[in-house]
Amino acid sequence: MAERAALITGASSGIGLAIAEMLGEEGYALTVAARRPDKLEAAADGLRAKGYEVQHIAGNLGDEETIKGVVAQHEAAYGRLDVLVNNAGVGIGELVGDLTTKKVDIQLNTNLRAIFLFYREAATLLKAAGAEHRNALVVNTSSISGKVGEGWLSVYSATKHGVVGFTQAMNKELANDGIKSTALCPGFVDTPMTEFVKEHVPAETMITPQDIAESVRYLLKTSAGCVVPEIQFLQPGGGLLPNAG
Ligand SMILES: NC(=O)c1ccc[n+]([C@@H]2O[C@H](COP(=O)([O-])OP(=O)(O)OC[C@H]3O[C@@H](n4cnc5c(N)ncnc54)[C@H](OP(=O)(O)O)[C@@H]3O)[C@@H](O)[C@H]2O)c1
Repeated sequence: MAERAALITGASSGIGLAIAEMLGEEGYALTVAARRPDKLEAAADGLRAKGYEVQHIAGNLGDEETIKGVVAQHEAAYGRLDVLVNNAGVGIGELVGDLTTKKVDIQLNTNLRAIFLFYREAATLLKAAGAEHRNALVVNTSSISGKVGEGWLSVYSATKHGVVGFTQAMNKELANDGIKSTALCPGFVDTPMTEFVKEHVPAETMITPQDIAESVRYLLKTSAGCVVPEIQFLQPGGGLLPNAG
């Protein structure tokens, strides 16, 4: 059985892949999950090439059965879960008068409902790790849009506010189980998700995925008595979208 194991969603690119690389470096056996199979397989192969133990599972994490399957396959492979990273997410800009129900549902299910269901499905494994070392960790990728609502990205902002609130609730509910939760709240990060804005906000001025991964490395090393409920990452001067509409 692996000495320590981590499950990272949305790990085929950007922030999730950087966190997976860091966790591999730190000696964790990894399950990486994301939607598109080819992209995920390429990312997983890259991690294996660095010598890390990796299983990859492709699927739509907006789907409950997929989430159940990911956690079950993680348990079957490694038998333990010390770090869960709920990072998969999608942002779809629309003005409120034009909201498309399907796009609302995709964002709610991927960014928010999936996190609730991952906690539920992983609770037994996380509690076992917490009982062993009092330092099980769940990292939930929110956004700076989870702290300040943004026009045009209103549904995305609402889901990310939900992530911050749920993280706070988990820190109360799981306080005696040795499970700590942290919401990550970045502004613009240089990943595929921000391609749409790079014409106006140059990639080289953005936060890097490695900035985020290094913050998670820090979280791994905090003592059992130290909970970090959230971390904000800003570009100098702020870096939010101007309100659309
Ligand atoms: N980049 C930023 O400026 C920024 C700022 C604040 C917060 N965030 C948050 O950071 C997280 C990671 O985003 P990123 O910037 O690293 O973008 P990214 O490179 O596009 O990564 C998004 C990841 O989520 C996966 N994903 C999306 N929908 C999914 C679904 N339904 N089922 C399974 N996997 C799904 C993607 O897989 P596929 O590519 O196969 O869909 C990909 O692995 C997201 O939660 C995002 O909201 C990003």
